Amino acid sequence: MMIEAVVFDAYGTLFDVQSVAAATEAAFPGHGTVITQLWRLKQLEYTWLRSLMGQYADFWTVTQDSLAYTVETLGLSATPERLAELSAAYDALALYPEAREALEALSPLRLAIFSNGSPAMLARLVAQSGIGALLETVISVDEIGAYKPDPRGYAHVEARLGLSREQILFVSSNGFDIAGAKAHGFRVARIARLPDEALRGDLAAATTIDPTLMFKALRMRPERLGFEADVTIARLTDLPAHLGV
Ligand code: LAC
Repeated sequence: MMIEAVVFDAYGTLFDVQSVAAATEAAFPGHGTVITQLWRLKQLEYTWLRSLMGQYADFWTVTQDSLAYTVETLGLSATPERLAELSAAYDALALYPEAREALEALSPLRLAIFSNGSPAMLARLVAQSGIGALLETVISVDEIGAYKPDPRGYAHVEARLGLSREQILFVSSNGFDIAGAKAHGFRVARIARLPDEALRGDLAAATTIDPTLMFKALRMRPERLGFEADVTIARLTDLPAHLGV
């Protein structure tokens, strides 16, 4: 069956979560690197825990809670206002440099985002990056109240687009998201900006493993969950050729 729609993950796939680094360092000089990494690790952990607990709270809450956890862990202090201000860095993430060109080239197909982000966060991200006109729709897990990789989320994408799973190519760089989308039956493209061999080389060469490298080791590899991407490409601009558009 022909691919009718390309659906993109947001955080880490279209938008660079590492781009909060300038804001974390400015807010807590000398601690930016560890805050950036712990924050993102804990943010996703809270999505999984909340889903397992049946205690959904939106991604804005999770983003603020995970930042508060991180700051407390490091023995730093900040007022709730300051934390809210820093959390806003997640609404100002950098669009990956090749994303616009890729979306423009894919314009013959239906294009959408499916993300953990709350509708308000995603609206702000899309607006500040100026890609809104290239997307047909933005779908949030908030519409079902359960985080990725809950299978209901991927099923909801089909319902929202009125397409069957074989008609959707899902694009993500997040291993757990790739596994979830594949388990659901989407065709899946993995964006591997860091080749596995390069990561292995960095880990082998490191005398101590810094937080950023640890983050990469945990989050930038395919997961061993029994569901692999159909195709692995290095950047979003490799998608048009893969799809023949
Ligand atoms: C998202 C997470 C997976 O955008 O980063 O849904």
